[in-house]
Amino acid sequence: MSASNTRGRRGRLLLVEDNASLRRGIARALAPGLRSLDEEARGDRAVARLRDPAVPPYDVVLTDLRLPGADGLAVLDAARSREARTAVLLMTAFGKVETAVEAMRRGAFDFVQKPFELPELEVRVGRALGQAQLLSELRCLREERRDRIGVDAIVGSSPALREAVALATRVAASRSTVLVTGETGTGKELVAGLIHTASPRAEGPFVKVNCAALPETLLESELFGHERGAFTSADRVRIGRFEQADGGTLFLDEVGDMSPATQAKLLRVLQDQQFQRLGGSRMLHSDVRIVAATNRDLRAAMAAGAFRADLYFRLQVITIDLPPLRERPEDVEALARHFLEGFAAECGRPELRFAEAALARLRQHSWPGNVRELRNAVERAVLLAQGPWIAAEDVVLGASALAAGWRPGLPAGGLALREVERAVVQEALERCGFVQKDAASLLQISRRKLNYMIQRMGITHPSWRRNRGDGTSGQVAG
Ligand SMILES: Nc1ncnc2c1ncn2[C@@H]1O[C@H](COP(=O)(O)OP(=O)(O)OP(=O)(O)O)[C@@H](O)[C@H]1O
Ligand SMILES: [Mg+2]
Repeated sequence: MSASNTRGRRGRLLLVEDNASLRRGIARALAPGLRSLDEEARGDRAVARLRDPAVPPYDVVLTDLRLPGADGLAVLDAARSREARTAVLLMTAFGKVETAVEAMRRGAFDFVQKPFELPELEVRVGRALGQAQLLSELRCLREERRDRIGVDAIVGSSPALREAVALATRVAASRSTVLVTGETGTGKELVAGLIHTASPRAEGPFVKVNCAALPETLLESELFGHERGAFTSADRVRIGRFEQADGGTLFLDEVGDMSPATQAKLLRVLQDQQFQRLGGSRMLHSDVRIVAATNRDLRAAMAAGAFRADLYFRLQVITIDLPPLRERPEDVEALARHFLEGFAAECGRPELRFAEAALARLRQHSWPGNVRELRNAVERAVLLAQGPWIAAEDVVLGASALAAGWRPGLPAGGLALREVERAVVQEALERCGFVQKDAASLLQISRRKLNYMIQRMGITHPSWRRNRGDGTSGQVAG
């Protein structure tokens, strides 16, 4: 995106100054050291630009204090409320020290008194750039620590799991498309993350799309983006996931749930390496590595005509199959201890341990919900445990209701399965005070899946806020 002649230049700067000749002089002096420099002559225009979500945040804002439209303090506030790492430098007339002090109190990085020499300004702008860069590096480091999935994060020593992990690390280096298969909760998303972090694209974005959570038309605009006016509610351009993932990895989750039309489009993109935004005419190119996952048997779906054979063969260049937990019982204990450590620390009880009987119970279970079910069971056990030990009674196993003889009643006239599903979801939510995380745990499904069901069923609750505009595709916060 950035031209090579700007390499080595640092930062984006917004210059706000109403005196045209002074503005030109400053711009000429600073521009050679910057990646980009934008200019505004009015305070209100600068505020509007800083608030425009389509304009990426600036590293440094250099603004005059007295401006038409809005003053430098308003510019300062707009910059700081948009992005905390933006360093704001104010230019003040001689003798206006009180205002400068007020500006520093409101978070300005520095101020320069007019008249100033250009070299002095360059030094101060350089310092401001240094601070902005330091802050963004710090943030990257922090995010990296949170996102980085190392081989160590994947717990379990069973040969089947270690083989899958070894394969994932080996194929990470290539650009090949990988299909991760396995039952629900076996760790497909975790392995997809590992493939990304172990790949040469680790510094690039890791973008996830859940193909099952969106209806067909929304999925297409999610994947490929749309132009303004592509359909009635498209009031602005949307950058699709393919574009966002440029230089990184695109994780297509639950790829087996895509409609035939979307399958055809995806196939074309994979073949041609280019695509169009909905309603657009330009061909776009994105350098993306695809990792797909599904808990369906794609071969069977293919045989039944529900999944395109050509797409299947494109996706499964390399297949990593994650074994269900019941086929690797030796991993149960290590996973349980791993989750216990996390949850116990979270609630301030690091000394919490499993009693032998509790471990025995965990070992005997068959784990239809796999690692996710185990994780939920440990979380519940930590909440239930009274003393320093997790007792056998604290281990509540989901399938035990059926095992203990509970049967859902089917009326003689039959009933719609969907209604039953809805009633159960509603009851779980009510029992958990509409906290989705807890309800999902009760139902032994992922939060995402619950969220999807809630949306599909149109269940609402006043305590849920709507989509926060962060691109999580209309998820309900819970
Ligand atoms: N080997 C493992 N070590 C540590 N944590 C694991 C392991 N396998 C799975 N997990 C954890 O179990 C949970 C479920 O895993 P994940 O979301 O990757 O499953 P999935 O296969 O994508 O499931 P689904 O098909 O339902 O989407 C996550 O919290 C994940 O971090
Ligand atoms: Mg998943």
